[in-house]
Amino acid sequence: MIRSTSGTDRYAASRGQHERAARSLAGGVATAFRAPQLPVPITMAGGSGSHLRDIDGNEYIDYGLAFGPMLLGHSPASVIEAVQRQVATGIGYGASHRAEADLAEAICRTVPCAERCIISNSGSEAVHIALRIARAATGRRRVIKFQGHFHGWLDPLSVGNPGSPDAGPATAGQDPGASESVTVCPWNDLDALAAALDDVDVAAVIMEPLAVNGGCLVAGPGYLEGVRRLTSNAGTLLIFDEVITGFRLALGGAQERFGVIPDLAVLGKALGGGLPISAVAGRADVLEEVATWRVRHAGTFNANPISAAAAVAVIGQLEREAATIYPRLESLGDQLAAILREETANAGVPLVVNQVGAMGYAFVSNVPVTDHDALLRADADAFRRFAAALLDEGVHVISRGLLYVSAAHTDADLEHTRAAVARVAQAMSATSQVNA
Ligand SMILES: Cc1ncc(COP(=O)(O)O)c(C=O)c1O
Repeated sequence: MIRSTSGTDRYAASRGQHERAARSLAGGVATAFRAPQLPVPITMAGGSGSHLRDIDGNEYIDYGLAFGPMLLGHSPASVIEAVQRQVATGIGYGASHRAEADLAEAICRTVPCAERCIISNSGSEAVHIALRIARAATGRRRVIKFQGHFHGWLDPLSVGNPGSPDAGPATAGQDPGASESVTVCPWNDLDALAAALDDVDVAAVIMEPLAVNGGCLVAGPGYLEGVRRLTSNAGTLLIFDEVITGFRLALGGAQERFGVIPDLAVLGKALGGGLPISAVAGRADVLEEVATWRVRHAGTFNANPISAAAAVAVIGQLEREAATIYPRLESLGDQLAAILREETANAGVPLVVNQVGAMGYAFVSNVPVTDHDALLRADADAFRRFAAALLDEGVHVISRGLLYVSAAHTDADLEHTRAAVARVAQAMSATSQVNA
């Protein structure tokens, strides 16, 4: 293990806080995805721009970005101002307010498939209602998802998740009956999808159009177009889960970038600039199911004014600055991937980096990771140790390998990151901590 650079325990306060939290908060963290962080789940004290600060006073260049939402960086002025304005006005009405229509218009302006939308609180919820809408609109029951794609924590689609060797459930306590109508298919395989679509009862095919959670895997040439054609021919709705890619891969998300337009898209994460909000956007005739109340879309907090105001501010800034923000994100993503590849190669550490624009995924692996099977063979423990060593160097990455850059990252951040990665890679190589 690489030692703390200071020689003392630079995470003492985080350790204490974690122990304290675990006495009342089951597991000591509020979401399972934070639990695996080494040496201990870090307790943050604040964030600004591309940096986070923990309660021990350590500062980090942050490539985790709250698991994706902070596309504009931490505490972006536009979002803070919008939230403050809204807080001063009212924080919840249980009634209509202007920001929800502002937001719906902004989504319909920017997301190619969006003729109408609905607004919800989290990605998981939005996926759930998207499936309900698809079933109502088609009068069919089954749903096809893909091995290694992630669509949130709710039971029906928590099968064949990233890192799972089979189509089994993701967690104890899951109702196996909830997934009875879900077929898990291999991704990037049009023949397999065509065969699955022989079943005439398929309401929807849902996918991450860039398989970010399964390793930032890119669809093969013609695959997305092929899926579009097959689903249209089958009368099945195509749902893109753009919870990660929405607003991040382009203003109009993966559908804009790849030029394939789904019937419905699920949005979340970056949409709220850090506040909880999500949406389902798509064809007006499909969302008519909600407009006519045939499909009930309920939720006490749906489009709460603070989250809605934040999201309006996020989309507004992205629209105004699209010509500079997206090329910058692209360049930052490319540079971060190059730094990781070059400095680990120099040290003989077998790091593979898949990256598209402002997102990526890194693995300790001796072979390229181009499909879910290769992800399963990568050395996840070695990557967690790599992430822990980077933390000691003031660089925060998600311990399973996901990488995000924001519009707030700077050239100085990249320079610091290069030096940090070089030191960590040399130390790992010297102590033979990698054996992928
Ligand atoms: C592609 C994708 N869909 C859905 C979700 C679920 O979103 P949430 O965590 O907001 O429920 C996630 C979360 O990471 C995701 O990455």
